[in-house]
Amino acid sequence: NDSVYILAIESSCDDTAAAVLKNDKVLSNLVARQSIHEEYGGVVPELASRAHQQNIVPVVDMALKKAGINKKQLHGIAFTQGPGLMGSLLVGSSFAKSFSMALNIPLLAVNHMQAHILAHFIDEEGYDKPTFPFLALTISGGHTQIVKVSGFFEMEIIGETTDDAVGEAFDKTAKILGLPYPGGPLIDQFAKEGNPKAFLFTKPNVDGLNFSFSGLKTQILYFVQKNVALNPNFIEENKADICASVQNIIIKILMDKLKLAVEETGINQIAIGGGVSANSGIRNTLKEAETKYGWKTYIPKFEYTTDNAAMIGIVGYQKYLHNQFENTSVVSKARIEF
Ligand code: KG4
Ligand code: ZN
Repeated sequence: NDSVYILAIESSCDDTAAAVLKNDKVLSNLVARQSIHEEYGGVVPELASRAHQQNIVPVVDMALKKAGINKKQLHGIAFTQGPGLMGSLLVGSSFAKSFSMALNIPLLAVNHMQAHILAHFIDEEGYDKPTFPFLALTISGGHTQIVKVSGFFEMEIIGETTDDAVGEAFDKTAKILGLPYPGGPLIDQFAKEGNPKAFLFTKPNVDGLNFSFSGLKTQILYFVQKNVALNPNFIEENKADICASVQNIIIKILMDKLKLAVEETGINQIAIGGGVSANSGIRNTLKEAETKYGWKTYIPKFEYTTDNAAMIGIVGYQKYLHNQFENTSVVSKARIEF
């Protein structure tokens, strides 16, 4: 029997996630979300680590049960080494180290950003996997990158944000509008009913393939403040239009850089990953780009785009196949390069 069973754990930010994979297929993929951060308008690191501490054992237990396998059947344990919040990462890595020692199975350390990209290699019926080389647009609450992917572990960042991440632009806009954290999904919802051309925002001027979102955030803040001063009900009366317009400019910024990246690399296969790629406007625009520009675009299942453990598992599986094991002295890293 050549089946490889991997248990994967993801705890880089505020979600405690566990998954079990049989080779490149997902048997279970669970996430315990932490609602505690909503009232603070952002993730509170100290509270996140505490919640991970409470959730990790039950989540792993449920992932194993749901997969219908016994922990003694596992061949390896994969965990997120970084990047992320140190206190959160430590909970996952300590758990994974103990588990690997107790079961005497290999430990597989996974880069969270690589995992967002390699999530495309999870075997799903009807899902067409990208072929190398391709371009990955990874957009999350912490990152905004264009990566040239030439192999499972051959990745080169060719563009990235010089300040805020796209997810922050969504979340901070939501905060300005009085919406709870994380605001991205809510902006997406409201945008569906709004006019994307109602309000005009300008694109930042950034060289090459890099991004900048902090200026946009300020632009939105001043725009809202100015209008609220004239009409206190401005936000309520225009919520859908504001959300649609903000989403529209963000999509324009991303598409402009992707077009440039395709031009510069000659690669027109585009795969998206990271929490923000759950955005329906971004998904639709990329789908349209297939006919409009002749690109081939890869958009993973929703549950594999936001933070999840299945993506950690698929990288763990590849590392297992390539004997890329770690010993228990491996350290968590808040920042990490490819
Ligand atoms: O990858 P992820 O789950 O965690 C990080 O590693 O950051 O990404 C979370 C980010 C948050 O900023 C959240 O607002 C954003 O993804 N997000 C969205 C949508 N769903 C999640 N942004 C826009 N539209 C969405 N539908
Ligand atoms: Zn992420």
